[in-house]
Amino acid sequence: MFSPKPAGESSSLRSGGRVKRELRMPLPSPTNGHTIDARGITIRFGTFTAVHQVDLTVSPGEVFGLLGPNGSGKTTLIRGLCGLIPFAEGSATVLGRDVTGEAERVRSQIGYMSQKFSLYEDLTAQENMDFYAGIYGLSPSRTRARKEELINLTGLGPYLHRRGGRLSGGWKQRLALVCALLHSPRLIFLDEPTAGIDPVARRDLWNLLFRLSAEGITLVVTTHYMDEAERCARVGYIYLGHLLAVGTPQELKQLPGVTPPGTRRLAILTTDMAGLLGRLRQRPGVRQATIFGQAVYAVVDADRSLAELGLEGMEVHPAEPTLEDVFVGLSRAQGDADGTGSRRPPIT
Ligand SMILES: Nc1ncnc2c1ncn2[C@@H]1O[C@H](COP(=O)(O)OP(=O)(O)O)[C@@H](O)[C@H]1O
Ligand SMILES: [Mg+2]
Repeated sequence: MFSPKPAGESSSLRSGGRVKRELRMPLPSPTNGHTIDARGITIRFGTFTAVHQVDLTVSPGEVFGLLGPNGSGKTTLIRGLCGLIPFAEGSATVLGRDVTGEAERVRSQIGYMSQKFSLYEDLTAQENMDFYAGIYGLSPSRTRARKEELINLTGLGPYLHRRGGRLSGGWKQRLALVCALLHSPRLIFLDEPTAGIDPVARRDLWNLLFRLSAEGITLVVTTHYMDEAERCARVGYIYLGHLLAVGTPQELKQLPGVTPPGTRRLAILTTDMAGLLGRLRQRPGVRQATIFGQAVYAVVDADRSLAELGLEGMEVHPAEPTLEDVFVGLSRAQGDADGTGSRRPPIT
């Protein structure tokens, strides 16, 4: 399901420069069992608005992915939901508590793995865990039990006496995850947890996240990796502070702005991909063209024949949009709508 949008407020999804309303759903009752229920939150730094009127709900046990280019407001939104930055407008409940009025209580029930390595490099893995257990005020017996549980979950056992700074990227992230989980939070925010770690460590970390989700823990994860976005139950795409769309990966691919009406997507197999790409970009009727793997992918006007597109005699297949296509399409539409086109990320 798409994330419900409060009635009366326009959906923030835009496509082709016009506000679309496909994502609007009935108004949920307050909180409505949601782990996160944010309504119209705006966050400013002085006169700069980093997060614009974001509406967002996340359900218990959900793995929710937050994507968007650097500087789009992902970290700011998370910090806002953790009660670390005040909202200029709007309100949010997290785990049923008002983030503004009960910030301390909210923070005691959530885990936050920040974008930067948040552990002490000179302390061993074990000492880092004990330090965080102390901050959370866990009793010695609770600390022992919880540490054992989390060490078993993450496989950190062999590294307990290694200093934080000497762990590899993947093990550092597991240690950070353990520290963020010591107080048994029901919701955890993970800000780019897999940035800069190798593919095996990345997969291991995601397997861990799914185990946590299976236990009913809600996860909000920011990432730049499309394969990670595909793993999420739902994904939100934030661009220059605007949450442009929220839905399952499959729902996002069906959005009308992604493959505009009157166009179709093609995959063209050729040995001369660079040459074909250059020719396609000159052709009338070709809206976009890019290379991916062993094929050239193009969005073309549906009424153009293969001959008109210069593709006659080539191996051409219909293609499905990827999540990358979704985000490129949404960013382009938003850039056109608010005149920030020059700030948008490179588009093929
Ligand atoms: N403490 C701050 N003071 C002023 N501007 C900030 C501050 N933190 C973030 N910003 C600005 O807010 C915008 C969003 O930043 P951020 O939330 O870190 O983006 P992301 O996590 O998506 O990369 C950026 O333009 C950033 O420069
Ligand atoms: Mg960030």
